[in-house]
Amino acid sequence: MKMRNLMVGGMVLAFALGTSGVAVAIQGKKGALEALDKLAKKTKDASFAEDCKKAAGSLELDPVMHSFKPRARGGFGLGGKAGLVPANQDGIEAFLPTLSKKGLAPADAGKLGDPILEMANRVLAIAEVSDHLWPESKESAKSKKKWLELNQMMKDGAKDLAEAVSSKNYAGVKKAAAKLNTSCSECHSSFRD
Ligand code: HEC
Repeated sequence: MKMRNLMVGGMVLAFALGTSGVAVAIQGKKGALEALDKLAKKTKDASFAEDCKKAAGSLELDPVMHSFKPRARGGFGLGGKAGLVPANQDGIEAFLPTLSKKGLAPADAGKLGDPILEMANRVLAIAEVSDHLWPESKESAKSKKKWLELNQMMKDGAKDLAEAVSSKNYAGVKKAAAKLNTSCSECHSSFRD
């Protein structure tokens, strides 16, 4: 009798672990990418912050940050399809430093303007979601206040970038990309390393 109970219990446990593992995997990388992309299309909505907060409830920081990786690694690329920029630049983390160094040449604006705007809106959605994904385990060493400040820097950089590229302010594009890039590295040196 006891043995049977143990087995049933074990099976229930295995089932619970199995399904939750699958759920996390589905919601993991691809799910996060889809959820973030949806939010990125609504940055101008009055409910944007609230929608991001709700979405954050079923997202984890790691897959959210993974969306910054190149398209080939399961992150957002630049634009709808591969090929707009070389493959090793085809992701937000890879493209931002280039943009902050070289800026956007007016000759490339027709091709890259809209994809850069889309990228800025995605970063804004990621930042808004990340407000609610503070890695609490690091509480003792680093404060939540600092997390929110660095996240705010990411939001400001993303908004500046969206505005600069929309108004064809090419010097502004370069400056905003640099600000955005600094938010990434500052937060990583505080919270990731
Ligand atoms: C507010 C803090 C914060 C900001 C701002 C931030 N990150 Fe992160 N990032 C993290 C933390 C913490 C991790 C580690 C997450 C983990 O592994 O759970 C991380 C992980 C990553 C990863 C690795 C994901 C993976 O799959 O292993 C990438 C890529 C990344 N960040 C890119 C960026 C880029 C690009 C920016 C700026 C546009 C940025 N991050 C801004 C905190 C931040």
